[in-house]
Amino acid sequence: MTSYAAYVFDAYGTLFDVHAAVRRHAAEVGPEGQRLSEIWRNKQLEYSWVRALMGAYADFWQLTEEALDCALTMVPKVDPSHRDTLLEAYWKLDCYPEVPIVLKALKDRGARLAILSNGSPAMLESAVKNAALDTVLDDIFSVDELRTFKTAPEVYELVTTAYRLYPETVSFQSSNRWDIAGAGSFGFRTVWINRASAPDEYRDLAPDMVLPNLQKL
Ligand code: LAC
Repeated sequence: MTSYAAYVFDAYGTLFDVHAAVRRHAAEVGPEGQRLSEIWRNKQLEYSWVRALMGAYADFWQLTEEALDCALTMVPKVDPSHRDTLLEAYWKLDCYPEVPIVLKALKDRGARLAILSNGSPAMLESAVKNAALDTVLDDIFSVDELRTFKTAPEVYELVTTAYRLYPETVSFQSSNRWDIAGAGSFGFRTVWINRASAPDEYRDLAPDMVLPNLQKL
């Protein structure tokens, strides 16, 4: 087993289940809940890419709110009065079941552990505390200090600058294939956590490894 100096994780979709907010309120939200959740996530990401390209940063919480508003308009069968409840749940998303054990095992091997995320510092801190991961993570790197989003190379560079490491000594894990493309292009060793068994994309920017979850890391 090869060891890396640092293991860096994307937050949303990789450590925390972005669909947990809607799922937690599935009964009230109704049968269109899954569609709502997917549009919510896709719009949130779209806004981040568009704003990064324009240089018109707004923090990820604002994007999360605007994305839910758009999703609620696109899925009119869901009662928009659930808006605030769903947003509140986003601050306490469940982590995937294997996450605490895997992080602890990597920590015991002496690796540095960090999150690198589009999330705002407050959102990330809340999710980390709620999942009791604050004792095992060394750092939470947020794009917020750079006022841009992944896949801008300077985002990935936050880690190598802070840790004074060469990119290839950092193992980066993300369930987002586009994030893996960005991280690999920067020079990280990349592990695509393909939780959804999604088809491969960005063929010229391939992951170094593909796993169904974090377990075999
Ligand atoms: C993140 C999102 C993009 O945590 O998943 O950066």
